[in-house]
Amino acid sequence: MGNQLTFDVLVIGSGAAGLSVALQLADSGQVAVLSKDTLSEGATFYAQGGVSAVRDAGDSVESHVQDTLEAGAGLCREEVVRYVVQNGPASVQWLDRIGVNFTREPGGSEYHLHQEGGHSHRRIVHSADATGRAIETTLEDQARRHPNIGLFEHHVAVDLITGRHVGAGNGRCLGAYVFNRKSGRVSVFRARFTVLATGGAGKVYLYTSNPDICTGDGIAMAWRAGCRIANMEFIQFHPTCLFHAAAKSFLISEALRGEGAHLLLPDGARFMPHFDARAELAPRDIVARAIDHEMKRLGSECVYLDISHRPADFIIEHFPTIYARCLQYGFDITRQRIPVVPAAHYTCGGVMIDLHGRADVECLYAIGEVSCSGLHGANRMASNSLLECVVFGSAAAADIRARMAGVPPPPPAPEWDESQVSDSDEEVVVAHNWEEIRRFMWDYVGIVRSNKRLQRARNRARLLRAEIQDYYGNFRLTNDLIELRNLADVAGLIVESAFLRRESRGLHYSLDYPAADRGTLARDTVLGPKLRDGRSPD
Ligand code: FAD
Ligand code: SIN
Repeated sequence: MGNQLTFDVLVIGSGAAGLSVALQLADSGQVAVLSKDTLSEGATFYAQGGVSAVRDAGDSVESHVQDTLEAGAGLCREEVVRYVVQNGPASVQWLDRIGVNFTREPGGSEYHLHQEGGHSHRRIVHSADATGRAIETTLEDQARRHPNIGLFEHHVAVDLITGRHVGAGNGRCLGAYVFNRKSGRVSVFRARFTVLATGGAGKVYLYTSNPDICTGDGIAMAWRAGCRIANMEFIQFHPTCLFHAAAKSFLISEALRGEGAHLLLPDGARFMPHFDARAELAPRDIVARAIDHEMKRLGSECVYLDISHRPADFIIEHFPTIYARCLQYGFDITRQRIPVVPAAHYTCGGVMIDLHGRADVECLYAIGEVSCSGLHGANRMASNSLLECVVFGSAAAADIRARMAGVPPPPPAPEWDESQVSDSDEEVVVAHNWEEIRRFMWDYVGIVRSNKRLQRARNRARLLRAEIQDYYGNFRLTNDLIELRNLADVAGLIVESAFLRRESRGLHYSLDYPAADRGTLARDTVLGPKLRDGRSPD
């Protein structure tokens, strides 16, 4: 078979999760890493606040565990929370050892620690306000230098290859069909083990803090391959993204609130103390909902975040990226308040995994934001995500290393069949459908939901999925078409999960069921498995 490449491990994604697992496996075999864009482009690069880990003598693992459980509103898996939190300090040390330049206390060797919503202590290790950039560029530098890591930028995984493709039942995962964005060709990447590290699905919403690559590809691929997908109704909206037509939802880190920034109404009044005793440092679901409530009540297009009461030197030293970016848009944050709005930020649900990162299909792993490990429950606590990427990167690497010798190389798979398709003559269909999905998800499946709104979204999602499936079957692949198909599947998963949760909990708030259920509804929403090619939940 001509167009087939074989590796020990195929890692789909080059963010904190993908590069962590790749680096930790590279001495044990040949690893391929795929990236839809350049290697560094992904949510990791844009992370601001930092990585949560217990570092201070006054803090404790138990306190970090309890804060995470509380933010997760009754749906975290305590065993997972303990595992991740316990491994926090070692994960930060690993990042430090490979060269991540974390901010230290003046003149000292100790890390400077930030505080964010839901955390009862200062425990956010950071690199000023551009922690993700420091982590991603360090991981990238290491990966580029390792001889056993093959890096495939501008390569998009289209679908997982499973035993079903080679006529051996659903069986094990054997790799993926991969679209080369530059040549337009689809190749077969075969591997003993495949790791999904494709990040989240923020682009399913019109307004999001996420970069363009976050189209939920891994969730959609795993779903189509027969994995269970859990808790997709829990989409986290970050309370404070810059409100400016040209800013494309630039994030204003929660760490500002940790350093005393206040949320203000247009008339300058604080409002968070009326919603929660923790005021601006309440968990994100509470803050985002309060902002949404106030904006709707006043008919205002934004609220304001103000840190100008802190010394200018302090603000510029701690938040140089945010200071510079806001200045670019005409706001001097040392003197002026910042207009902010909530935007879709984090996908708490995803591919169900165990403590090793294993998904339901044999030899398939999912780590990082694509996964649902049980760490975040109904609401992720700030800065627990980068931590999860590194901890599960190590866990999956250890598990794969231990299994490597016992898993045979994958057999050849059928080539991608393009004999029945032609070039599209109506690209406008793709652009229109992209826009429509993102808009109805924003309008009907946003911060506050209702049965009526969900039903509207369900009707549109069904129509669009049928139309996209038809289009997909008839025209040659493009990156936009691959992403559109995935967005449509993920939108369907979010809507169906939201329908199934007949209560309000964490990030899911329904006008029809405004209270949290104390009985049987306090459990994960699990969809699947559905072993059907290209079809999504009904
Ligand atoms: P990503 O970093 O998003 O990487 C995904 C990778 O998958 C990319 O390389 C992409 O090209 C690739 N990919 C996707 N689909 C395909 C496909 N089909 N084929 C091939 N490759 C594919 N969390 C914290 O803990 N602390 C913070 O301070 C913080 N700040 C944040 C600020 C912003 C603006 C955002 C957006 C998020 C922030 N988060 C933060 C969340 C955190 O950054 C992400 O959850 C985390 O970085 C996800 O890492 P990942 O490796 O799972 O995915
Ligand atoms: C932020 O800096 O506010 C983002 C932190 C996170 O999403 O964990």
